[in-house]
Amino acid sequence: MELFNVYPLFDVEPVKGEGTFVFDKNGQRYLDLYGGHAVISIGHSHPHYVANISAQVEKIGFYSNSVQNPLQKELARKLGEACGLPEYSLFLCNSGAEANENALKLASFKTGKSNIISFKNSFHGRTSAAVVVTDNPKIKAPINFRDGVIFLDMNDLAAVEAELKTGNIAGVIIEGIQGIGGIRVPEPEFMIGLRDLCTQYGAVLILDEIQSGYGRSGKFFAFQYTGIKPDLITVAKGMGNGFPIGGVLISPEFEAKSGMLGTTFGGNYLACAAGIAVLDVIKSQKLIANAEESGNFLIAELKKIDAVKEVRGLGLMIGVEFDFNISDLRKKLLYEKKIFTGVSGTNILRLLPPLILRKEHAVMFLDKLKESLVELS
Ligand SMILES: Cc1ncc(COP(=O)(O)O)c(C=O)c1O
Repeated sequence: MELFNVYPLFDVEPVKGEGTFVFDKNGQRYLDLYGGHAVISIGHSHPHYVANISAQVEKIGFYSNSVQNPLQKELARKLGEACGLPEYSLFLCNSGAEANENALKLASFKTGKSNIISFKNSFHGRTSAAVVVTDNPKIKAPINFRDGVIFLDMNDLAAVEAELKTGNIAGVIIEGIQGIGGIRVPEPEFMIGLRDLCTQYGAVLILDEIQSGYGRSGKFFAFQYTGIKPDLITVAKGMGNGFPIGGVLISPEFEAKSGMLGTTFGGNYLACAAGIAVLDVIKSQKLIANAEESGNFLIAELKKIDAVKEVRGLGLMIGVEFDFNISDLRKKLLYEKKIFTGVSGTNILRLLPPLILRKEHAVMFLDKLKESLVELS
């Protein structure tokens, strides 16, 4: 059987990861400025993470969500403490899209409505409700087009209010920082206004922190730069450092009802062991402060490069915009300079490294980027 060919692939075969580096099958080392698409939070193969998952799989790997699982409670307690929202509750699932599906469902259950406000250039996943609120017609099949989802310009509060006034809106979904949309940080006043308007009109505010959360922005959640509290927060990616896990953080106004949400695999022992190890390491190694410090350094240095048009982002979620197509630049960085990077559109380099990235790694990347820009000019 052949694989269903949906991914454009680089000709690299990683076989090992260690901290901020990955190694291919020939033993070649690569600096990881991409984190496997914002997933690697505490670094590749962290010893505490490996030990926690290994010890767990020797005991029990899976049962079901019909029995007591103290690991889920430990994960929820540690997450509440880490993000400063201990009063929220946690629903565990398996991916980012699934987290958003459940958040959208909760918004609809709570309000009895079905319309959603989303924003232009947003990405919330590829499954049914998540893709409906994603602003990319190319990844929607006919079954995914439906009325009642309104895509507005980010930072346009008046447009949001006009839609909320119709009285048909169940919720507003927004990324903490738009990722695939090009690393665009919503204005803090917009976020504060959005919170106020959702409260005023009885709509549920959903913060998609799947890419921007778990310390990546230099705060646990990117929205925490604004001081607001959303009704629902979705997480995945960095939550498991590569082990598939997602979650919805649910504010106390929501009442859980038996059978309202559910999943077979969500919250299984191994995913919880991975998620707990991630939170332990984020805390013990002070990775959120590191993301802020390394990110500030990287952003400041990138801004000094002449060929760079604009640098956007917070912490270690950085977009570097050029006024040319960066396909050759990324290939050069990968194949010649041995550095993984991400992309957004055609002109934006996306940096999403592990949160353990140190200044020396940032300098290594900056030197290779500058060299590459000279060689391509
Ligand atoms: C902001 C955001 N939301 C949702 C998703 C979907 O997550 P997953 O691929 O785990 O379904 C992504 C993935 O890139 C994302 O960046």
